[in-house]
Amino acid sequence: MCGIVAYVGKQDAAPLLLDGLAQLEYRGYDSAGIAVLNAGHAKVLRTGGRVRELRAALPKRFAGSIGIGHTRWATHGPATEANAHPHRSSDGRISVVHNGIIDNAGSLRAELAAAGVTLTSDTDTEVLAHLVARSTAETLEDAVLDAVSRIEGTYGLAVLDERHPDRIVLARSGSPLIIGVGNRETHVASDLSAIVRHTTSVVHLEDGEFATVTASGFTTFTRDRVNTSRTPTEVAEAAGNFELGAHQHYMRKEFLEQPASAQSVLRGRLEDRFGTARLDGLNLDARANRAIRRVKVIGCGSAYYVGQLGAQMIEELARIPADAEPASEFRYRNPIIDSTTLYVAVSQSGETADTLFAVEEIKRKGGQVVGLVNVVGSSIARACDGGVYLHAGPEIAVASTKALTNMALGFALLALNLGRVRDLSIAEGRRLIEGLRAVPEQIEQILRTEDEIASVAKGLSGASSLFFIGRVRGYPVAREGAQKFKEISYCHAEAYQSSELKHGPLALIGESLPTVAVVPQDELVQRNVGALHEIAARNGPLVVVTHPGVDLGELRASRIDVPKNEIELDPILLTVPMQLLAYHAALALGHDIDKPRNLAKSVTVE
Ligand code: G6P
Repeated sequence: MCGIVAYVGKQDAAPLLLDGLAQLEYRGYDSAGIAVLNAGHAKVLRTGGRVRELRAALPKRFAGSIGIGHTRWATHGPATEANAHPHRSSDGRISVVHNGIIDNAGSLRAELAAAGVTLTSDTDTEVLAHLVARSTAETLEDAVLDAVSRIEGTYGLAVLDERHPDRIVLARSGSPLIIGVGNRETHVASDLSAIVRHTTSVVHLEDGEFATVTASGFTTFTRDRVNTSRTPTEVAEAAGNFELGAHQHYMRKEFLEQPASAQSVLRGRLEDRFGTARLDGLNLDARANRAIRRVKVIGCGSAYYVGQLGAQMIEELARIPADAEPASEFRYRNPIIDSTTLYVAVSQSGETADTLFAVEEIKRKGGQVVGLVNVVGSSIARACDGGVYLHAGPEIAVASTKALTNMALGFALLALNLGRVRDLSIAEGRRLIEGLRAVPEQIEQILRTEDEIASVAKGLSGASSLFFIGRVRGYPVAREGAQKFKEISYCHAEAYQSSELKHGPLALIGESLPTVAVVPQDELVQRNVGALHEIAARNGPLVVVTHPGVDLGELRASRIDVPKNEIELDPILLTVPMQLLAYHAALALGHDIDKPRNLAKSVTVE
């Protein structure tokens, strides 16, 4: 979603800002803009389109070594130039870029209009520019504090002032901002990807924190103007991890990286001696662990579907009642928070607003929450009491692949850890450890069948509607399969439990509605195959994602075989062909795979 970049130093700011914005494009946006200060005068360039249009429109004379930039994902008002950031005060003195949502923008707009201010956009952000400009404070810092004290909502913001041309003032509440410290220059972005190509020395602003950045460094402070001395840390992420390289799409690059990223989440966490998973980051000793009576997983989108898969693993291996719920629903239904429940927040980005707010709600009510999060230092990771970092590396494609696989592996580790302080025997623990060790190589085997999966996918790409079915362990796999397929192919794809076919969906089965069925070799295999016969009898085309030992008899179906692992871990591997099916169907349809329409990688507003 929305992205912020800012720069102050000795170089020409505009090209740096444009490169930074291009780096943030993957997050999803619909309009963009930059502002640069030169000799105490601000110049602004905006577009209702893409960053490349901004680049093309950049005038020759746009010099200045301090500036701010933004990619906007429309919330208040359509994607037009007038609504694109930066927004300015009426006199043009103040320029602001903002991520997040100002809840009381309506009343502030009315108040400003009544005071004679002409508002030139439909946005919530514009009020900030006017509020800063109208403050009577001497310093830009105090003016920003004044403005922020008037607003309710979430923000990450960067403010430029013609009167203070050496500095950019930042504020953060619920929307991330990172300062990158360079050599006599300072970079700012809402996402590490726009910083690491310049510097690996960074400071993540805390919620509620403010900062002033200049060419020579930065200072951070609280709402009460108390300095918070923050020391930059080194980030391990190399700039190359964010680059596409020779690949056609980030999504393919990322699903091909899975054997290595799966190794990373397991590394150092498998303890053969005790047949358990070592998860020190959970901050749970054995007694606290044993006291857990329920597990509740919360996440959004694909993270929620993997959460469902994870809850099943926890229930099966640790015999603790566990379920998953979309964070977006959970937080609005006044949930009962229970001190013997372990809440697990799952998120690739660690910035999904609904998941973050759900975590805050749990903590406000005294609940205990751990995170399964990919991005180190992200808002959700920091809000949790402990957690398991997923170590999948940066994920750029909107359709999540390697991070999801690592979420599933993270849940397997958690289930093992919870199980081993309960009734899961050491022998069982060791059996699962062996299974987990085999996963990276088995993913490799699946990826080697990409060409075959691609030809099945091409066959599906002509359909206007599809079913994905599975039951028990296979059902979350089917749900995630349908999600991925619809996200990037734009075909209607719906998941059902195979056991529910007869209770409704069978009415739609016919030769124009293909079904992708997840049929693991488990105790339900005969029943699953029975459901397939019912579909075949009605001429429904079938793709069966299954294990080599499963006998489909005379069934007419395209078959995708996945290597067999331990029964509880099989769902992790069964999701991998779903990624390839969706990718190759979307490729056949010629879609913009990495940036599907209307979707954002990181949904930082409710
Ligand atoms: C967005 C993305 C989904 C993703 C979800 C949760 O909706 O489009 O692909 O699954 O956010 O993201 P998270 O970063 O919390 O895993």
